[in-house]
Amino acid sequence: EELDVLVFGSAIIDFICYTPRLPKAGETLHGHKFQMGYGGKGANQCVAAARQGSRTAMVAKLGGDTFGSDYLRQLREENVNVSHVHQVAGQSTGIAQIAVSDGGENNIIIVVGANNELDANDVFLAKELFSEAKVLVCQLETPIAATLQALRCFKGVSIVNAAPAMEQTPPELLQLSSIFCVNESEAAIMTGVGSVSSISEANRACKRLMEMGANTVILTLGPLGAVWGGKEAPGKFQHVAAPQVSNVVDTTGAGDAFIGALAHNLARFPERSLDEHIEAACVVASQSVQLPGTQSSFPRA
Ligand code: RIB
Ligand code: NA
Repeated sequence: EELDVLVFGSAIIDFICYTPRLPKAGETLHGHKFQMGYGGKGANQCVAAARQGSRTAMVAKLGGDTFGSDYLRQLREENVNVSHVHQVAGQSTGIAQIAVSDGGENNIIIVVGANNELDANDVFLAKELFSEAKVLVCQLETPIAATLQALRCFKGVSIVNAAPAMEQTPPELLQLSSIFCVNESEAAIMTGVGSVSSISEANRACKRLMEMGANTVILTLGPLGAVWGGKEAPGKFQHVAAPQVSNVVDTTGAGDAFIGALAHNLARFPERSLDEHIEAACVVASQSVQLPGTQSSFPRA
């Protein structure tokens, strides 16, 4: 059996309200559209890689409810190997409440439910997938102890997407990953560097993440693309520009499209440079912001 990308992580049902602008605290707003969708950073990243043409598998926990059954069917339809995606009786499938403004901005509250049941034993049970996969992808919507165990057991290229950010990130999380990837706000929270909105601020945050133990860092900057650097060239960070997009509809899941495409490229084109992989991932992410929703907006190769 050949496996390109293994995702150990979250699956969540998205409840998305489209609204003229994001609400203030205590405010009630009239939105103009509601949409449910398949989301969760782990499943999003897995589906993004699968749609690019990677052979993918997920290790994840869903609830013993109809959302869980629907999600399982959906992942199968996306050609994801779900032999280690399990529904937990008595638990609810994770849900996300998402607001998306006309400007394409969003905010998200997640209640992870069954995702909290993903544990270190699931790494053991899925050991075949761990030995077959070329690339492993993890996020922070499932328990950290299990994620660390997954990283310890994997011998290939691992990507950690530290999202949503933790304030006290265990150094092991950075040290155990081949590639550590965050966006502007996650980088700001993790490093304590006030804000990260320019390329020079991103360089500074990358430097800090390297000092915290990362081997290679990618910091994504939305329309500005990404900045990255690694141990091979200490202190040197490179910028990769993203294609310009004129009609931004919904940026939700753009980071996941980036990670999924990055994983796909690493698995399928090992002869290419990381610079080329990041450029290709920026293209996929920029396509995703032009359509509504998360997985529903991810392109097929
Ligand atoms: O990154 C976007 C995702 O974050 C959404 O699909 C939502 O489920 C949250 O997990
Ligand atoms: Na989108």
